[in-house]
Amino acid sequence: MTVLALETSCDDTCAAVLDGDGRALSNVISSQLAHGAFGGVVPEIASRHHLEHVNAIVEQALSEAGVGLEDIELLAATRGPGLIGALLVGLSTAKGLAAARELPFAAVDHLQGHVAANFLRGPEPDEGPFEPPFLCLIASGGHTLLARVEAHEGFEILGRTLDDAAGEAFDKGARMLGLGFPGGPALERLAEQGDPAAFSFPGSPGELRRGAPRKPFADGLDFSFAGLKTALLYATRELTAEQLAERSADLAASYQAAIVESLISRTERALQRTGLERLAIGGGVAANGPLRRRVAELDAEVHIPGRLLCTDNAAMIASAARYAPRLPYPEYLGMDAYATGEAPG
Ligand code: KG4
Ligand code: ZN
Repeated sequence: MTVLALETSCDDTCAAVLDGDGRALSNVISSQLAHGAFGGVVPEIASRHHLEHVNAIVEQALSEAGVGLEDIELLAATRGPGLIGALLVGLSTAKGLAAARELPFAAVDHLQGHVAANFLRGPEPDEGPFEPPFLCLIASGGHTLLARVEAHEGFEILGRTLDDAAGEAFDKGARMLGLGFPGGPALERLAEQGDPAAFSFPGSPGELRRGAPRKPFADGLDFSFAGLKTALLYATRELTAEQLAERSADLAASYQAAIVESLISRTERALQRTGLERLAIGGGVAANGPLRRRVAELDAEVHIPGRLLCTDNAAMIASAARYAPRLPYPEYLGMDAYATGEAPG
């Protein structure tokens, strides 16, 4: 079944075409740069950008895939969670395209999409898919969780962040260090020149070296990044502007190492507790080089999707759509988006 999917839950306008074997024929991503000036995503700007670009992005996804709308057999879009105005643009466009040809429609949960990036087949005949059961670490701008994936259709949450998401920690840390938005890639670049053990942050190598307890709390599978963020704030306040400029790479490296350690320690623990021997990752933070290297070293059969399949994209939504319930025309026409939580009944 050839699938056309749209993803507009945040600030990227994305469309992709998937063939019947779960191979991406195209995966178009239009990133919005306008938010940089505001230091974060502005919902109204995001919605307007989606509205202005979505038709061209769909056209591009079809043409790069070498297919026409008449070849599409299933339409799909992210229904939530995300920015409601942004979601509505992709959802309404996909529903409209489906309705025009009386095609079935599949609504996809964004987090299920990040998991389903692992179900995609690569361009080579023997590449993927990575099949359940596996443990999945999802770390994005809005979510951080460990999931037990037993089937293609869903997952069970084993642990999640109690406060900020890992991506949010990257973005806010980058802001404190005077870097642009989105902060993750900028902070990673700066950290390359720094010493990860230079500063002592909760969970960082600097702290470990001095024999401090390895984990901020006991032995759960939940995450917390708020304390770490505050620790970075205090560290920057203790420095003069000149010192801050001098030490910013060390701060970035130590801060990044602490985020990565926090993700890795709980993932390792979840592998031990569940007895799962296979591990996959997803979400924008899974594009982070040091995290990818640490994950690859874990004692498990590891699947690490390409960077463009970790950050928001529509191929992962099309992949999830292959296993999601399909609504026949016209049952989906009244379907609404949702901003938080799970799809309403
Ligand atoms: O999955 P995603 O594209 O969108 C959401 O669903 O939130 O994740 C975006 C997040 C942002 O916080 C961004 O800073 C972070 O992923 N991110 C990274 C990297 N690339 C993106 N964080 C660390 N290192 C990166 N290379
Ligand atoms: Zn995402």
